[in-house]
Amino acid sequence: MKFFLDTANIAEIEEAASWGVLSGVTTNPTLYAREGGKLADFHGHLKRICDIVDGPVSGETVGLTRDEIIREGVELAALAPNLIVKVPTMPEGLAATKALFDMGIKVNMTLCFTVPQAILAARSGAAYVSPFVGRFDDISEDGIDQLEQVVIALDNYDFGHDVEVIAASIRSANHVTKAALMGADIATVPFSVLKNLVKHPLTDRGLESFLADWEKVKNA
Ligand code: G3P
Repeated sequence: MKFFLDTANIAEIEEAASWGVLSGVTTNPTLYAREGGKLADFHGHLKRICDIVDGPVSGETVGLTRDEIIREGVELAALAPNLIVKVPTMPEGLAATKALFDMGIKVNMTLCFTVPQAILAARSGAAYVSPFVGRFDDISEDGIDQLEQVVIALDNYDFGHDVEVIAASIRSANHVTKAALMGADIATVPFSVLKNLVKHPLTDRGLESFLADWEKVKNA
């Protein structure tokens, strides 16, 4: 499993990259707004992220028509070779994905919840399909179960191009564990979740006891 950071925060991206575990970044309008992002700097911000990350960086379109999404997608893709155009799952999004695919521009189809949506996304040419886990949990459905169905279904077919599943809307280490066990290609996680993945109480306790014993050795 590869780890992407789901953020628009440059410091978080730099820190995860320094750990050597960062394979990509996903952003969305909510995450950009959370950083106090301004429309005028949207493309500049994405470009800065693309320069830091050695891997795909998803930048989301906000247009609602096929032509608007295509125009935004072409502009975004011109920012950097590793920019992936993130497009919402909807008829206009599928149509735009097909056009962008034909231009050689890679799409990450987002806000995907069901197996049929995922198959349609892959069929339209999406290189990445992003099933949302946590938002299913929010409505008392089993997000991990839904993700597993998408992973199994996409694995059943050859779409004539590579399709990777990005487990998105990931909220916990348990989500990541389950996604890894079912073979999801990628988990895109908030930095808070990534930091928690490194930690375990037994690791902390073990470290404390090693350090205490090392003090004894030093004072012996
Ligand atoms: O990758 C999608 C993600 O940003 C949505 O996460 O936690 O708002 O459902 P969440």
